[in-house]
Amino acid sequence: MNTEHSFTLIDDSNGSTYKLPMLSGTVGPDVLDIQTLYKQTGMFAYDPGFTSTASCTSTITYIDGEAGVLLYRGYPIEQLAEQCTFLEVCYLLLNGELPPKAELEKFVDKITHHTLLHDQLTDFFNGFRRDAHPMAIMVGVVGALSAFYHDALDISSKEHRDLCAIRILAKIPTIVAMSHKYTVGLPFMYPQNKLTYVENFLHMMLGNPCEEYIPNPVLVRALDRILILHADHEQNASTSTVRLAGSSGANPYACLTSGIACLWGAAHGGANEAVLNMLLKIGDVSNIDHYIKKAKDKNDPFRLMGFGHRVYKNYDPRAKLMRATCHEVLTELDLHDDPIFKLALELERIALEDDYFIEKKLYPNVDFYSGIVLKALGIPSNMFTAMFAMGRSVGWIAHWDEMISDPKQKIGRPRQLYAGATRRDVPSITDRGDVSA
Ligand code: CMC
Repeated sequence: MNTEHSFTLIDDSNGSTYKLPMLSGTVGPDVLDIQTLYKQTGMFAYDPGFTSTASCTSTITYIDGEAGVLLYRGYPIEQLAEQCTFLEVCYLLLNGELPPKAELEKFVDKITHHTLLHDQLTDFFNGFRRDAHPMAIMVGVVGALSAFYHDALDISSKEHRDLCAIRILAKIPTIVAMSHKYTVGLPFMYPQNKLTYVENFLHMMLGNPCEEYIPNPVLVRALDRILILHADHEQNASTSTVRLAGSSGANPYACLTSGIACLWGAAHGGANEAVLNMLLKIGDVSNIDHYIKKAKDKNDPFRLMGFGHRVYKNYDPRAKLMRATCHEVLTELDLHDDPIFKLALELERIALEDDYFIEKKLYPNVDFYSGIVLKALGIPSNMFTAMFAMGRSVGWIAHWDEMISDPKQKIGRPRQLYAGATRRDVPSITDRGDVSA
């Protein structure tokens, strides 16, 4: 990292000047190093939502939101989505390089042989109500992994961290599929080692013990691509949550659980489910104008789900790839005339031509299309966020590992601008007045 130049801050009230170093990465905006800001000035930096704050140094993923660029370890997402499988991308994110053939085979073999859950862990599901949201189950069961696999929880050991990564990647699809089977009252399906990662997931998720599940290669490729496109997205909310949880030394399963909880929110990973719910609410092409008006009304909390992005302000490169996959899947399944898919495509067309969305640079994001593809694959909408978690788990674990290995790593501890009551004395209970008045 280059630290050639500095940045001078001037306090307008008294003319005092403070020098702060500027850091340059390999690509992307320079960064003002404010680590000494408090020491020098007695002030904190204020940045709600971290819109201007780099929280760490990372070598995993690069995004240029203005140019619509997304690179994993330097490789463009378009090339990875076209030329690689999800497990190749996992290897890349975890190890920094694409695997040679023999390495990939070893990696795939390890994952294939860690997909089963401890049998007692399957009983854990029975503690949940059948109508529990699958993400509630995911939060519980992934957290519980630390109670079953504590033979390798020394986070200072690279060997243990690598084994945790393999276990997480291998077991997450099993847990996602079981979360679904449990809520619909169907028997759990055991993994099948002869199948690929995605085929096996579809077998566990959509198959049943009465007949053999025959995977459709077009749908397998579509899901593989969804996983690749969701695998990492630099310091997004859930990844930052994983890093923050991990910064205290918490175990990786606990950290992953915090990421899953964060992902659940509708502004993040909950968006793909929210897209489907929104489409069902809109109901018919004739109602689109009404909902577009609502989305534009400042006094109405309604937003078009699946539109807009914190960092992509021109287009989301993942959405472009997902849009193509969406059309492949709808064609393969002959679903272009299905009312909900027709509605989605018409909403996309109208919003893309509307001045409000054009001016605010609100384009369909990856979740707009992934929701449609997942529905076409037969995945119920309450499982969409769990599917996102399945893809993102590798990103979470790669960032967690990078953070633990960083010698500069410290426990995360943001500061605040306090705006509450100043010091006051506690009154006796009879002198407290009526707080509800
Ligand atoms: N529909 C209508 N108006 C919108 C929308 C939308 N989907 N998104 C943003 N706006 C408006 C917003 O009201 C604001 O208007 P104004 O400038 O007049 O106050 C302006 O656009 C900027 O919005 P913002 O909320 O300040 O932008 P942000 O960068 O903080 O939010 C976002 C990004 C993704 C949270 C937001 O666009 C949103 O809520 N989208 C819908 C939810 C969604 O699809 N989320 C998935 C994101 S992609 C998955 C992932 O990577 O996690």
